[in-house]
Amino acid sequence: VDKSSLPLRPPVVTIMGHVDHGKTTLLDTLRSTSVAKGEAGGITQHIGAFSVPVPATSGGDKRSITFLDTPGHAAFSAMRARGASVTDIVVLVVAADDGIMPQTKEVIELVQKEQDKVGLVVAVNKIDKPDVDIDRVEKMLLAANVLLERFGGDVPCVHVSGLNGEGLDQLVETINAVAEMQDVRAEQKDVVQGYVLESKMQKGLGPVATVLLLRGVMKSGIHLICGTTHAKVRSLTSPSGESVKTVLPGSAAVVSGWKELPNAGDEVLSGSETDIKRAIGNRIRKAEIEASMTDMEA
Ligand code: GTP
Ligand code: NA
Ligand code: MG
Repeated sequence: VDKSSLPLRPPVVTIMGHVDHGKTTLLDTLRSTSVAKGEAGGITQHIGAFSVPVPATSGGDKRSITFLDTPGHAAFSAMRARGASVTDIVVLVVAADDGIMPQTKEVIELVQKEQDKVGLVVAVNKIDKPDVDIDRVEKMLLAANVLLERFGGDVPCVHVSGLNGEGLDQLVETINAVAEMQDVRAEQKDVVQGYVLESKMQKGLGPVATVLLLRGVMKSGIHLICGTTHAKVRSLTSPSGESVKTVLPGSAAVVSGWKELPNAGDEVLSGSETDIKRAIGNRIRKAEIEASMTDMEA
């Protein structure tokens, strides 16, 4: 298949970093709402998704970027690993007044594991604070094996303030440039493939899942399999809450119609109703066999 004939899709950009280094505030300023203020204790406990339109680059079409917010709290390392594995680009947020902290290091390790697939952009944040030493933070990054452009490496580093918006234009431009080099394309004719970012029971809709779509086109009525549950898609809602008819690769949507609650992190695939029912039967049997073997070992 000639990849260059496929349409470009929005790059998936995951914001990661140590707790309270300002990930949600930064995204919040980007889309100018106030999710950070509404969150209990200001601690992110889920993977949020939203899309922002970005200005066209020279000669390019107008496009958007899908941003995923992740928690920085130590307890959420599984979510961070998931975030790093489904994304095209990681923006590592490092608070200038705090420098490299344990979850900063964790993110660096995750990105290095996925370095063939995942681009890295560093955002040194909170530069509005008095007496911050950006130079010191950049040298800490170098010591942690993040080869910034400034030191002859290939990792771009932008200085920003999520609070007052300084540097955010440049951050978006930098993300755009990295995405353009990655040339992320949408395989729309294929089977639907994506990942569950989060799932919950919702009044009136039953089990719903936020699905990040990477291939194919999601529409209501199609059949999906995820782990040992399945759905005939009943409704699709964009992360900003609008009901949508179709979802294209590189974007996320809340999907209803699930038989049972899917697990966050599980892969979502489409198929015919009969194939899916058969596959689920097989998956359940396999799980039962594995469980009985563990029982025997015990
Ligand atoms: P977790 O999701 O819990 O990991 O935190 P987070 O990284 O999303 O940080 P959050 O956006 O919740 O911000 C933490 C605190 O830092 C809040 O009090 C913000 O107001 C403050 N903050 C965030 N960005 C900036 C900034 O650019 N400058 C200053 N001065 N404060 C900031
Ligand atoms: Na926080
Ligand atoms: Mg947050």
